[in-house]
Amino acid sequence: MVRITIDGKALDVEPGKTIIQAAHEAGITIPYYCYHPGMVVDGNCRICLVEIEKQPKLAVACKTPVAEGMVIHTGSPKVHEGRRHVLEFLLIHHPLDCPVCDQAGECKLQDYYYDYDLARSRFKDQKNKKPKVVPLGPYVMFDAERCILCSRCVRFTRDITETNELLISGRGDRSVISLAPGKTLDNPYSMNVVDICPVGALTSRDFRFKKRVWFLETKNGICPGCSRGCSIHIDYDPRENRIYRIRPRKNLWVNQYWMCDDGRFTYRRTTDHRLRTPYVEGKEKDWKTALGTASRLWNDSIRTGKRIGIILSPSMTLEELYAIRLLTEGMNSIEFLLGEDYTPEDGYSVVEDDFLIEGDKHPNRKGVELLFGNSLSEVKDLQGFDFLLIFGRALRKISQDPLPPAIVLTPVFDPFIPRISVALPGRTHFEKSGSFVNSQGILQGFQKVLYTDSQAPGELEIIAELGKVSGVSIPQTTEEIFDLLSHTLPRLNGLTFSDLLKRKAIPVLEEAPLWIS
Ligand code: SF4
Ligand code: SF4
Ligand code: FES
Repeated sequence: MVRITIDGKALDVEPGKTIIQAAHEAGITIPYYCYHPGMVVDGNCRICLVEIEKQPKLAVACKTPVAEGMVIHTGSPKVHEGRRHVLEFLLIHHPLDCPVCDQAGECKLQDYYYDYDLARSRFKDQKNKKPKVVPLGPYVMFDAERCILCSRCVRFTRDITETNELLISGRGDRSVISLAPGKTLDNPYSMNVVDICPVGALTSRDFRFKKRVWFLETKNGICPGCSRGCSIHIDYDPRENRIYRIRPRKNLWVNQYWMCDDGRFTYRRTTDHRLRTPYVEGKEKDWKTALGTASRLWNDSIRTGKRIGIILSPSMTLEELYAIRLLTEGMNSIEFLLGEDYTPEDGYSVVEDDFLIEGDKHPNRKGVELLFGNSLSEVKDLQGFDFLLIFGRALRKISQDPLPPAIVLTPVFDPFIPRISVALPGRTHFEKSGSFVNSQGILQGFQKVLYTDSQAPGELEIIAELGKVSGVSIPQTTEEIFDLLSHTLPRLNGLTFSDLLKRKAIPVLEEAPLWIS
C-alpha cells in the first residue's frame, strides 16, 4: 500500500491507482469530464486539476498515479483558479443553449460553472459555428457546438463496443466529432454514448424534448429485456405515472456501466398492447365477477381431482413462483410446464452477443430452475389437461381450439384472450416489486415504480385468493414471501427483501461468479 494525504486525510491506497480513484473511494469529490471509471483514461479536459505539494504545476488527478508520501489538495485557491480557467476555455465557444438543451438540469458544464466559475464571459468575438441537430444513428442526435471534445463517445465505440463509428476530425477549434466514413452509430449499445456525454452534445432521439429532467424521479430496477438482468435507473414522472427513460446503473458483476438499446425500450411494455380489463368467456367483466369465476373454476378442478396444467413463465418474479409452490403443495394431480413470453423475433435488434445481450429474452428463467428444476416441459400439446392455470403469454403460438377451461394472468392483450374462460390483467415489472435470478445465477431485487388501478389485484393477491379457495394461506406481499423463501434457501441466509434491494448481487446458483462479496 502507498500512504498519501488528500485534504489532510491520510489514506492507504493500492499502488497503481490514480489520485481521482483514491479520492473518490475516500468520498472526496474531484470534478471530471473526460474521465470515466469504466473506460481507458485520456486526460484531455483538465477539469480534475489538483495541487500536489512540492510540484510546481497543478496535476490532472485522473492520470496521475499515487506515490508514497504525496500530499494533495483538491480545494485550494490555486486549484479553484486552475479549474476556473479550464471552464472559461471550455465555454468560450459554447452556445447559449441551456434553455433549449435536453441536458439542462444534469449537465456537468452547468454544475461546474456554478461550482468554480460564476464569471461573465470575457469573449467578445464571434463564437464558432458548428453542425447542430445531426442524427448519428437511429437513436442518437449530435450537436457539435455543445461538444467539449472529451472523447468519451469515441473511446466507447473504440474500446467497449469495438465498432469504431466515431472519431474526432479537424484540428484546433475546427475539431469535431464525426462518423467514420460509411458508418452510422447503430451498434446495439449506441445509446450509452448519450449517458456518458457529460454535456448536451449527444441526446437520445427517444427522450429528447419529452420532459425536463427536474420533473422526473428515479428508482432502481432490473431490465426485464433478457436473462442478463442489467441493473437500471428508471426515470419516471410520478404525477403522470409514466416512465420516460431507462438508463444503466453501475453493477460490476452484471452489466458494469452499460446496457443495450433494446433494454431501454422495455418501458414501452407499460403502455403497449395492455390487457386492461378482465375477460370472462370472451366478454369484458368487472374484477369481482372475474375473480369469482376464477375461484369457482379453480375450486372445481382441485375438488374433482382433474388433471391440472400450470404454465409458468420465466418472466414471473421469484416471489410469484414461490407463491405457486405454496399454492400447490401436496397436490398431486398437477403438472408444471414452462411457457415463453418473448422470443428474439419480437422486435429485438440483436438475438445475443458475447457482451451483455442474452438469447433468452426473459429475466427469470434461472429463478424457475431454482424453485422447479430445469426439466419442465415446453408448452406444445395441451390435450389431456382438464384445466389450465397460465401465467404470461404462453398460448400465443398455440392454435388448439377449443382449449380446456383456463385462467390466464397476463399484462398483454394477445389474440388468444377471447378464447380463455377467465383472463385477468397482470402487471408489468415496472408495476410491482420482486426479484429475478439472472443467467449468471445472481439474484437481484427491484421496486415498484408505477402505481396501478387500486381495484385491480396484483399477481400475488390473485394467487392468495386461489389459495383461500383451496384452504391454503399464502402471504400477499413480496416482502412476506421473500422472507419465507430466504428461510428456505440456505444461500439467502434469512436476508430480508429490503436488504436485497440494498445489495447489488447475491449469488444463488452454483454458476454465479465466485468473486461476488
Ligand atoms: S459528444 Fe459528448 S462525449 Fe463525445 S466528445 Fe463531445 S462532449 Fe464528449
Ligand atoms: S442486455 Fe438484456 S438485460 Fe441488459 S439491457 Fe439489454 S435486454 Fe436488458
Ligand atoms: S477528468 Fe482528468 S483530464 Fe479530464
